[in-house]
Amino acid sequence: MQLNGKTILLTGGTDGIGRELAAQLKAKGAVVIVTGRTAERIAAAQAAGFETISADLSNAAGVDAVLAAVKGRDIDILINNAGVGSDHDFREAAPDLGDNDRCIFLNVNAPVHLIANMMDGLKARPEAMIVNTTSGLALAPRAGGPIYCATKAALRSYTLALREQLKGTRIHVLEVLPPVVETKMTAGRTSKKMSPQDCAAEMVCAMEADANEANVGMVKFLRVVYSISPALARRIMIGF
Ligand SMILES: NC(=O)c1ccc[n+]([C@@H]2O[C@H](COP(=O)([O-])OP(=O)(O)OC[C@H]3O[C@@H](n4cnc5c(N)ncnc54)[C@H](OP(=O)(O)O)[C@@H]3O)[C@@H](O)[C@H]2O)c1
Repeated sequence: MQLNGKTILLTGGTDGIGRELAAQLKAKGAVVIVTGRTAERIAAAQAAGFETISADLSNAAGVDAVLAAVKGRDIDILINNAGVGSDHDFREAAPDLGDNDRCIFLNVNAPVHLIANMMDGLKARPEAMIVNTTSGLALAPRAGGPIYCATKAALRSYTLALREQLKGTRIHVLEVLPPVVETKMTAGRTSKKMSPQDCAAEMVCAMEADANEANVGMVKFLRVVYSISPALARRIMIGF
């Protein structure tokens, strides 16, 4: 897809991978509307020349606020990027169920609600795209993040079915599976991390190429292992 001139709604576009993606899409000539919660990051995005929407997407009211803000706008591309982790270990403590629920809503319900409500508008565009950011952990979970991995597997499954349903329409469906990327989400992790710039660059390439999946960085390797042996992929990732 030609990105120049496209209007893009990018959730979680004020930090991490999303902030880099917003900058690279703007450099391609797209108009990018970014969402986020934190006032300073919203202000920084505005200072960088982005339209912004402030909303907490871990609840239905936040999703409604985003939909109200883009009502009447011709959005060509919806990028569901906002996401959060929710690690816990039953061997140490009971999970914080409120935290689990916010993770499930932000990572699954919010994309599903945005897609459903924006579908007619996207169908009316000459060409459109839905980009769902999952994770390499959508292929095989790690033990420390049962809820996070479950949300990403759910969004991956939804995305696969959605792509099939939209075959033959003008809406392209892209799933992005990032590896471990250097952002605040991975602040405590010591494993080798990809830069958000490099991750965003691979996402932009996948969008321009109308790819179905962007297996970013090391996820390319995991994807090959998974296609040969899902059991081996699970064994590698479970202790990750
Ligand atoms: N980093 C990784 O290693 C990695 C790996 C695989 C997949 N991913 C996925 O990539 C996506 C981006 O991750 P990231 O690492 O770039 O995260 P990040 O640095 O924490 O940034 C997340 C973005 O989403 C916004 N956000 C967070 N919680 C929100 C909420 N409740 N409502 C609305 N906006 C919210 C944040 O802004 P505010 O906090 O100001 O709201 C920020 O703009 C996520 O879907 C994540 O699951 C990341």
